[in-house]
Amino acid sequence: MILVTGGAGFIGANFVLDWLAQSEEPVLNVDKLTYAGNMHNLLSLQGDSRHVFSQTDIGDYDAVLALLKSYRPRAVLNFAAESHVDRSICGPEDFIQTNVVGTFRLLEAVRVYWNELPDRERAAFRFLHVSTDEVYGSLTATAPAFAETDKYEPNSPYSASKAASDHLVRAWHHTYGLPVLTTNCSNNYGPYHFPEKLIPLMIVNALAGKSLPVYGDGMQIRDWLYVKDHCSAIRRVLEAGLVGQTYNIGGWNEKPNIEIVHTICALLDDLHPRHDGSSYSEQITHVQDRPGHDRRYAIDASKIEQELGWKPAETLDTGIRKTVDWYLANPTWVENVQSGAYREWMQQQYSASVKTATA
Ligand code: NAD
Ligand code: DAU
Repeated sequence: MILVTGGAGFIGANFVLDWLAQSEEPVLNVDKLTYAGNMHNLLSLQGDSRHVFSQTDIGDYDAVLALLKSYRPRAVLNFAAESHVDRSICGPEDFIQTNVVGTFRLLEAVRVYWNELPDRERAAFRFLHVSTDEVYGSLTATAPAFAETDKYEPNSPYSASKAASDHLVRAWHHTYGLPVLTTNCSNNYGPYHFPEKLIPLMIVNALAGKSLPVYGDGMQIRDWLYVKDHCSAIRRVLEAGLVGQTYNIGGWNEKPNIEIVHTICALLDDLHPRHDGSSYSEQITHVQDRPGHDRRYAIDASKIEQELGWKPAETLDTGIRKTVDWYLANPTWVENVQSGAYREWMQQQYSASVKTATA
């Protein structure tokens, strides 16, 4: 069994679904179910005994240790985090609690569990920490892409909290010998992406006839990776990554935000034309910039490609088309998120009295 934290969120849920589509090895999914955790993402696993869900905070040391001792996973993959930069600017506290304190307590519980394992299981155990390219800071237009050897220069409360968590993971390896792996990935997009982030927000706002808010001049550059490719990279790192190493993950897809928004509008013009016949791009509005907005991210993925033989399956064109198709095909998922119905449904399903349940 593997233990996945944050497996009800965007990337975690995609990872759990992909894992169970390819493997019989069960998953223990440990998620606090914040606003970003959505069990509708995992509806297809209802009744599947290979998926065990526990509504637990990674910062709850006793609960996590009890789960570890009870289920005895061979690996822990830490996806759980507060992930939205804008929210971290308005309210950094939760980011410190989950990303820093939560990761620390998770590491401590894992360390105790790992120390008590028999020699063979102890040697095979892995703690894989899922992190971000934002820890490296912002690039100038001509600077080379982020390499694993670059220094950390986080600029937002979110990226500072993720950088802190990466340092804790590194220290638990260096000091206690915990067999860790860390991945730093670029911007993901794809199915089940919460519509507060750029790509899903633009799709759902466009379809709802709302404005498409582009921060500042829209010339900030992000490096996009289809979420399923991130999942395959994590599987590969878990399988073959060298203990104590970090791996940058990206698909060499740098684009200015405004170009991404125009691409989405053009796809929607084609797949779901506006009633008045004009382009969705007429809904684009330039709004006030994000404070401290990083200008450019770019990942140099040479290490994972050359050392582990990983390559993304999607290009930006194929991935964005799949994503727009998914949102067009799943209006109920979007409605449930926007109305908050997913939260009410989860409260009924996962009430506090039932802490551990099979999904
Ligand atoms: P998300 O916000 O969609 O999901 C986060 C999940 O973690 C949710 O299910 C939430 O309920 C859960 N969670 C939050 N706090 C928790 C806690 N204290 N205990 C247990 N569960 C908790 O995030 P995401 O976009 O899926 O990102 C997953 C991970 O990947 C994060 O660590 C993020 O930093 C990293 N990452 C994200 C991207 C991206 O583009 N989204 C890129 C690189 C790295
Ligand atoms: O780089 C990896 C990171 O990518 C992850 O670590 C984060 O968890 C993830 O949220 C994402 O962070 P960003 O801040 O890059 O993602 P976001 O979708 O919020 O914004 C992408 C870009 O689009 C960014 O330059 C801000 C801009 N933007 C965003 C929103 C929500 C807009 O112009 N308008 C918007 O409404």
